[in-house]
Amino acid sequence: MKNILLCLDSDPQPSVFDSIAAIDAGVDHLLRYGGVQPDDVRDLIHGAMFTRVDQMLKHTAVFVGGSDVHAGEQLLAAAQKAFFDHLRVSLMLDSNGANTTAAAAVIAARRHVPLAQETTAVVLGATGPVGQRVVRMLAKEGVEVRVVSRRLPRAEGVCHRISRAVAGARVTPHAAEGTEVAELTQVAQLVISAGAAGVELLSNKARQAASSAAVVIDLNAVPPAGIGGIETTDHGTKRDGQICYGAVGVGGLKMKIHKAAIHRLFQANDLVLDADEIYDLGKRIDHDTP
Ligand SMILES: NC(=O)c1ccc[n+]([C@@H]2O[C@H](COP(=O)([O-])OP(=O)(O)OC[C@H]3O[C@@H](n4cnc5c(N)ncnc54)[C@H](OP(=O)(O)O)[C@@H]3O)[C@@H](O)[C@H]2O)c1
Repeated sequence: MKNILLCLDSDPQPSVFDSIAAIDAGVDHLLRYGGVQPDDVRDLIHGAMFTRVDQMLKHTAVFVGGSDVHAGEQLLAAAQKAFFDHLRVSLMLDSNGANTTAAAAVIAARRHVPLAQETTAVVLGATGPVGQRVVRMLAKEGVEVRVVSRRLPRAEGVCHRISRAVAGARVTPHAAEGTEVAELTQVAQLVISAGAAGVELLSNKARQAASSAAVVIDLNAVPPAGIGGIETTDHGTKRDGQICYGAVGVGGLKMKIHKAAIHRLFQANDLVLDADEIYDLGKRIDHDTP
């Protein structure tokens, strides 16, 4: 039986990246829908649920994508609501690579710095899909997280949503640009930048001055770097006493996690792969990688 992935994208055009990654992960057929609204989901999911029976149901799965992770969460919730009795198919949420990229970044960090109560992290560009998931995964580990945006209400919104999703989350919103960002990084052991492509959020000088930062990760692959002085290919590279990772350095693990998650979808018909599950999968992959 062929493995079919139903791609539900909140953007008008379904993601090319997600489609190629799915084919590379071994999916036989893609059914791609763009501009999907929560009200559209029930009938699309029913089409996936009613065509195959019992053990064969696991050969159909659903991937939720798009550039808005909150919209993606609404599609995921609508998909779960469409199921009844034993009739269901496995689901994965990865809007703009949010879960897989964030998991790879946080896993890279935990190789070098304890992700625990005593650690403070600063997440720059924390309001995008990737940044939000980075904050969520760090908060789940008990890390104190400074959530940075250019606009306070946006940072507050992220903190509010993450406090609802993660019991006991220690997240604080900050509005900062330029030198204010540099000040925020002063007390952090971990700095992760998830800002938009091609935008510098922390200068090289400010990074070097962040003397308590043991690990610095920049996820932006488009010049200029999001954090000055970091090369995209940095992979645990020592710079000025800091362990550094760039977007390509993190991207290898991200792609492994992404493909492994797609593969996992077709092993059962009742999986929901969101932040926690994808982070756990990534930790297992990293542990097993020599
Ligand atoms: N390495 C990988 O494998 C991989 C995979 C996926 C994505 N990425 C990269 O990860 C990064 C995050 O992705 P994303 O989709 O979450 O990013 P995004 O939504 O495009 O941007 C993240 C945040 O950056 C801030 N921002 C936007 N324009 C800005 C500007 N001109 N100046 C300062 N801040 C600005 C915004 O925050 P505020 O408006 O709240 O300030 C925005 O919410 C991107 O650079 C992306 O290319 C890497």
